[in-house]
Amino acid sequence: MITKCLFPAAGYGTRFLPATKSMPKEMMPVVNKPLIEYGVDEALEAGLNEIAVVTGRGKRALADHFDTNFELEHQISGTEKEELLSGIRNLLDSCTFAFTRQREMKGLGHAILTGKPLVGNEPFAVVLADDLCLNQEEGVLKQMVDLYRQFRCSIVAVEEVPRDQIHKYGVIAGEMIREDIYRVDKLVEKPSAEQAPSNLAIIGRYILTPDIFDILEQTAPGKGGEIQITDALQTQAQTGCVIAYKFKGKRFDCGSVPGFIEATNYCYEKGLYSL
Ligand code: UTP
Repeated sequence: MITKCLFPAAGYGTRFLPATKSMPKEMMPVVNKPLIEYGVDEALEAGLNEIAVVTGRGKRALADHFDTNFELEHQISGTEKEELLSGIRNLLDSCTFAFTRQREMKGLGHAILTGKPLVGNEPFAVVLADDLCLNQEEGVLKQMVDLYRQFRCSIVAVEEVPRDQIHKYGVIAGEMIREDIYRVDKLVEKPSAEQAPSNLAIIGRYILTPDIFDILEQTAPGKGGEIQITDALQTQAQTGCVIAYKFKGKRFDCGSVPGFIEATNYCYEKGLYSL
């Protein structure tokens, strides 16, 4: 039913300079696997095998990663190192990959709108690969796809964050309809601690219904002069339905140095990288 997963990956990654000066932050490895590969693993586990990536200038490494490298593969063929590529080979055999470029970095909402020609008129998932989500059982996207079957509307993944961190996130408020599900009536992008409607912050996993594209086309630049997906979801919540889901699992903000280090230590200790 949902088969497409969009990866907006055109941002500048300024929090990780100088590493991200010429390298996409989505290619930064947690142990020995790039962040985006963890994201595509999660999408495939959820049954989403049509991968769409919004890239930008200086992001060619992303497309190269999801392609065969004949010389290298020939070189290591028959050696024990071949095993290190088994994960990515499985993804290449199981998924299709499509790429488009965002020409101007006008925000996450604009990046999602840029993906419209790759998504078409169907519900789709969005993964921000710098939010690394791990769960021992079902991955976060799988949990959300299952929920979509029940609610058939846009879903945002949320987690409780401390008040002094809330200004970094989109924040929701709504009516609790199950201990882990809210019907959203308010969304605010990066509010101050005083103005935040709750401590429930949106993290980098979404399921969106395709009417979001029309809404995004009409959405004026918001916080920071960027077109915000949070503002488009506010319109959708008023006219239709948006659900917020407190997912099961751990999330690491790998766009920040402390989150990236925490994720690296966690994955190394648990052996959750490419063995
Ligand atoms: P971030 O807010 O993390 O911005 O974007 P960023 O530029 O990647 O990183 P910092 O804050 O400067 O360190 C959230 C997601 O939206 C994408 C980013 O690639 C990231 O996955 N994005 C953001 C775009 O694709 N295009 C944009 O114009 C803005």
